[in-house]
Amino acid sequence: MSTQSLAPATPSLRSIRSQTLQLFDLVTSDDVLRTAPMPGFRPLLWHLAHIGVYQNYWVLQRFAGQSSINAAYDVHFDPIKTPREEAPVLPSRAEIEAYLSETLERVEHVLATTAAGTIGGDRLTLEYVRGLVVEHELQHQETVAFVLQSLPLEAKRKGPAPPVGRRAQPPSEIAVAALHVSVGADGNGFVYDNELPKREVDLAAFAIDRDLTTNAEYAEFIEQGGYDKREWWTDAGWEWKEREGVRAPLYWTGPGWHERSFFTDEPLRPDAPVTGISWFEADAYARFRGKRLPTELEWEAAAGFDPVADRVRRYPWGDEFVSSGTSERTTWGTHPVGAHAEHRSALGLNDTYGNLWQWTSSEFRGYPGFVVYPYPEYSEVWFDGDHYVARGGSWFTDASLARVSFRNFYRRHFRPAFLGIRCARNAR
Ligand code: AVJ
Ligand code: FE
Repeated sequence: MSTQSLAPATPSLRSIRSQTLQLFDLVTSDDVLRTAPMPGFRPLLWHLAHIGVYQNYWVLQRFAGQSSINAAYDVHFDPIKTPREEAPVLPSRAEIEAYLSETLERVEHVLATTAAGTIGGDRLTLEYVRGLVVEHELQHQETVAFVLQSLPLEAKRKGPAPPVGRRAQPPSEIAVAALHVSVGADGNGFVYDNELPKREVDLAAFAIDRDLTTNAEYAEFIEQGGYDKREWWTDAGWEWKEREGVRAPLYWTGPGWHERSFFTDEPLRPDAPVTGISWFEADAYARFRGKRLPTELEWEAAAGFDPVADRVRRYPWGDEFVSSGTSERTTWGTHPVGAHAEHRSALGLNDTYGNLWQWTSSEFRGYPGFVVYPYPEYSEVWFDGDHYVARGGSWFTDASLARVSFRNFYRRHFRPAFLGIRCARNAR
């Protein structure tokens, strides 16, 4: 009998919503929510309305065939219909919350009164649209969270510093023998189009770091002239670094490094994983160590392969969904590498999930045989050569997104997300 979970018990839409609103409550003044937090970023309130519009659109309009409850919102809070540059005049937070509540009530009604397995408009199944709106809101929560981290401390309420401590295990590499394995999702449970189709691949033997790169290790790169040694950088990376004047990770300040976390600014924690780095910096750091970033499929095998079952499992810890209840979020930041044994893979990789996403050497592209579903703006429009794949999951990421086939993606220069580095190399 298959042990694959058919219907992962993801959190309820209502519990996800209360977490979403709690995030917005961390900001001390509504003005902060209405202002673009960084160049190229929409105000936080835009995300709040967008989450509602997305639920409204996919569950009520597309699946259930209902008409829109607010046509102006459908336009203003759709990222394609209203590009970033044409920022709409934002309604009040109270108005947006009223819209969100009405939408959620209607969505819950549709989900509760439709039989499991029902196929609605556009051949969407009930389970699929539910997964789509659940994962969409969870992903926007993470965007809101890293935008909140970027805000000055005065803009936020008070909160705890992230955990301090020593790494759980000394630095080491995991040797992975040549493998012939199935990668990608099998379509069991909700998955995105970019995870499909499942296919068999041959991977050459490689070695991958057991741990994420720590702050102390990254500080060595800086001390040894990392930002000045042309040979460690790609052409595009060097050009970006020179233009932006980048000399250290995003929230580091010197001398005697300090790092700003979600709520606090503290001396750098040596054994916490480095974050606030672009793909260009991750790639240059790996070259400094005589290594490289793993390909996304190497990452997937190292995180998911179970030598006993001789296959890649759904999660780093096995095939069963284990609800974190988003417990990772209680720390409000990363933890020293390797500290959570429950996030160790069968091959012994630490922090496959639950500390930081990890940049890979892979451009974000459709797998061979990729089919857009259910809309091109989730994946396909980002197959542009500048988006690179990140794998894993951060201290903020809900376990619903922890399947090893999940592919996150950002532009190479992007730094504010909860992203880190894990190096790899060819087997000698
Ligand atoms: C996959 C996290 C990069 O936030 O832009 C949200 C996910 N897609 N709404 C993003 C997404 C549409 C996406 N990331
Ligand atoms: Fe979205």
